[in-house]
Amino acid sequence: MDIVTIHALKKYFGRGPGQVKALDGVELSIEKGRFTAIVGASGSGKTTLLNMIGGLYQPTEGSVTVDGMDLARLTEEELTVFRRRKVGFVFQDYNLAPELTIRENILLPLLMDEARPDGIFFSEITGLLGLKEKLDAFPHMLSGGGQQCAAIARALITRPSIILADEPTGSLDGKTGQSVAGLLKMTAEYFHQTLIMITHSEELAQLADRVVRLQDGRIVQ
Ligand SMILES: Nc1ncnc2c1ncn2[C@@H]1O[C@H](COP(=O)(O)OP(=O)(O)OP(=O)(O)O)[C@@H](O)[C@H]1O
Ligand SMILES: [Mg+2]
Repeated sequence: MDIVTIHALKKYFGRGPGQVKALDGVELSIEKGRFTAIVGASGSGKTTLLNMIGGLYQPTEGSVTVDGMDLARLTEEELTVFRRRKVGFVFQDYNLAPELTIRENILLPLLMDEARPDGIFFSEITGLLGLKEKLDAFPHMLSGGGQQCAAIARALITRPSIILADEPTGSLDGKTGQSVAGLLKMTAEYFHQTLIMITHSEELAQLADRVVRLQDGRIVQ
């Protein structure tokens, strides 16, 4: 079963001679529960594609369907709920709030959704990611790898069905990057999630079930 179906997708930024064709006719189906890596040169449209699956941009043309929902047909309110509950984002630079503890950072998406934390689930996630001893620390007290693990825990806490990771190992050294990508893959399998990860590393792309290559806004084989 496909959880993501993208058809004839175009995303252009700007107008006139300065217009950028970030995505220029993308066809893509992603099977539920699979791990897909997206690779391609800088500027090839990887982040744009990931953000469109996450409902952050509207298509210029074409459609993005996630879990049976055509994202262009959702109201602003429905899109907000979609982004909060269906998808979990992990970014290159972690995006943790520096003034909050690791525990507070992980629980933040639930607070914003006025949802109640599940203590057993919280404990399970933080255990899997090796964060149990670091919950009262502030982000700057952790290594880059530790901070990214906290960001992964924050993405998992709302039980999203899709994890969207944009170069999650881009700020880490090779060895730490391998281990963080391995943890992402492991937690996605454990929670039966669909994982879509952008990477510049061919080595990390090999961890995925499938590699999608972008070039000038199109998928190439
Ligand atoms: N919000 C935006 N406004 C204008 N142009 C944009 C915007 N977002 C992306 N672009 C342009 O669209 C093209 C694709 O950008 P995108 O960020 O998707 O590439 P990428 O493959 O993620 O690159 P990188 O590997 O450097 O992160 C680029 O030319 C970029 O400058
Ligand atoms: Mg990018």
